[in-house]
Amino acid sequence: MLTVLGLAGSHRRGGNTETLLDWCLEAARDEGAEVVKFRLSDLDLHGCRACDGCWKDGTCVVRDGMQDLFPHLRSADSIVLAAPTYFMGMPAVPKMMVDRCQCFWALKYVLKRSLVEPGRPTRFGAYLSCSGTKHPRAFDGAREVVSSLWHVLEVKSVGEMLIPGVDAKGEIEEQPGALDQAEAVGRRLAGERAQEKEET
Ligand SMILES: Cc1cc2nc3c(=O)[nH]c(=O)nc-3n(C[C@H](O)[C@H](O)[C@H](O)COP(=O)(O)O)c2cc1C
Repeated sequence: MLTVLGLAGSHRRGGNTETLLDWCLEAARDEGAEVVKFRLSDLDLHGCRACDGCWKDGTCVVRDGMQDLFPHLRSADSIVLAAPTYFMGMPAVPKMMVDRCQCFWALKYVLKRSLVEPGRPTRFGAYLSCSGTKHPRAFDGAREVVSSLWHVLEVKSVGEMLIPGVDAKGEIEEQPGALDQAEAVGRRLAGERAQEKEET
């Protein structure tokens, strides 16, 4: 069965970005995907130590919640990351998760080994975000980070939802079209990905 990994990057339980994520994952589940969701703030994550320990074998030496997440980041058919804008960028917790993917970078670019099995169908990814303001560059910083993450994870971005002007908890529910758009992303991650998998 096709798997979709959902990553909730806000500490605010049931907040705007987690709501978008849940809409998206529900639609993916309805398409028949197996959904695995992690709330990153429940994982007790630590930052990358830049110890280069991963240069030896491509695995991270830091023993924390990332050890539960690493296998999913490698095996998922699709990945959806949801996180709000904090200080014009990505909040610290999801950024820690991204930085800890340095071991995958080492695996690929230092050890010249593949992250996913050769010949595997393209993995799909989506980024869902909200910002409290309508600042024209509110999403720019995080988008660069996500693009770099997808590159290392060998994921093709197929969906992005960047919703400005959504601040208080629950405001996303009043945002016209947000539910439909999030569901469409979920269907894309699950449905089209399944079709592609069948064809290969
Ligand atoms: C620490 C912090 C920093 C924030 N920084 C920004 C910011 O730089 N620009 C912005 O537009 N909104 C900012 N916001 C507002 C959030 O992006 C907004 O409330 C969002 O809807 C929160 O999503 P959530 O409910 O998923 O946590 C910030 C909120 C917090 C708590």
